Amino acid sequence: MNTVKVELAERSYEVRIGTGLIDRAGAEVASLLARPRVAMVTDETVAMLHLPALTTALEGQGIAVTALSLPAGEATKGWENLARCTEWLLEQKVERRDVVIALGGGVIGDLVGFSAAILRRGVRFVQIPTTLLAQVDSSVGGKTGINTAQGKNLVGSFHQPSLVLADIGVLDTLHVRDFLSGYGEVVKYGLLGDASFFDWLEGQGPALRDGDVTARLHAVTRSVEMKAGIVSRDETEEGERALLNLGHTFCHAFEKATGYSDRLLHGEGVAIGCALAFELSSRLGLCSQEDPSRVRAHLKAMGMKVDLADIPGDLPEAETLLAYMAQDKKVVDGQLRFILARGIGQAFVATDVPGDAVLRLVQDALVGR
Ligand SMILES: NC(=O)c1ccc[n+]([C@@H]2O[C@H](COP(=O)([O-])OP(=O)(O)OC[C@H]3O[C@@H](n4cnc5c(N)ncnc54)[C@H](O)[C@@H]3O)[C@@H](O)[C@H]2O)c1
Repeated sequence: MNTVKVELAERSYEVRIGTGLIDRAGAEVASLLARPRVAMVTDETVAMLHLPALTTALEGQGIAVTALSLPAGEATKGWENLARCTEWLLEQKVERRDVVIALGGGVIGDLVGFSAAILRRGVRFVQIPTTLLAQVDSSVGGKTGINTAQGKNLVGSFHQPSLVLADIGVLDTLHVRDFLSGYGEVVKYGLLGDASFFDWLEGQGPALRDGDVTARLHAVTRSVEMKAGIVSRDETEEGERALLNLGHTFCHAFEKATGYSDRLLHGEGVAIGCALAFELSSRLGLCSQEDPSRVRAHLKAMGMKVDLADIPGDLPEAETLLAYMAQDKKVVDGQLRFILARGIGQAFVATDVPGDAVLRLVQDALVGR
């Protein structure tokens, strides 16, 4: 097992990464509990696959368990299920000193984390992320929230978990498409700040995808180390944390255009967005022309979506996509902020990106469809 510490003074916590963590969950969480009971929230798919083992592990340590299963999928991350989850936790008589467990992917982690943040003005929660995306990204760093009709993640709060247990064994039951979607966030770390990690991924990515446990452990650990470091230095995204949004302004526009449906998964949009961010960087003369080609080649070698043509169904025209980007919450004083790069592993925040360059980029990307 590897342990990465997220250093945030009195809100510091550990991310434990390894195999068999769910089977040991009772012992892992016991020291956090003021009394031996937890309320767990998961989704219906994860409940079927992994809730029995987690329940057995907790009960084996004398911890009483109640569980709620919400429907699986992005549509769950909204007002309706936030109310349902929060009211259920109140019905379970969860008190301020109790601990709530979020077992699932980023949808459950974000929703349940937000519910824990507002329940009795904040109760502690433990993340047990079950997707690659959640293990390398969403379970770490304390961003919680829901989507609304106006856009993604527009309502939420910073609420750090008390512990993260990333059991990489549960990734075996993920559909390959969901695994690769999470891989989009893994690649992002190499691209934004660690060129040698990207080199390593170019070599080991296929083994990692095909189930190599050592490679998975390294990829998850390195990703979490990078995220933990950034979050420790900039918890509330005043500066450096924005780099984690590499590819995301594009991604959020495409997600909105596809109605947050399974036409495009979040990590797929991130991968396409990263490819576009490097293409834009190259067009603006910030990085070499080889860099976007290298990014695209790796995503293709992994069997991932790379182009807008890989998104099934119609997309709106470039102007509309640009308007969606302008609604992204990374907009400051109406100025589009993009994360661009001076090379692989060298991302930075650009506030003065010419709108017409972005428009031409998206127009060209749409032509390929
Ligand atoms: N808070 C953050 O910092 C942050 C960062 C990145 C993404 N996110 C959010 O994360 C969400 C996406 O997360 P996601 O990709 O994990 O989606 P998800 O939670 O919808 O999970 C994807 C699918 O995999 C299933 N699943 C989960 N674990 C499984 C397992 N072990 N075996 C089989 N199936 C399993 C789920 O039921 C679901 O159908 C988005 O809402 C995004 O906005 C948040």
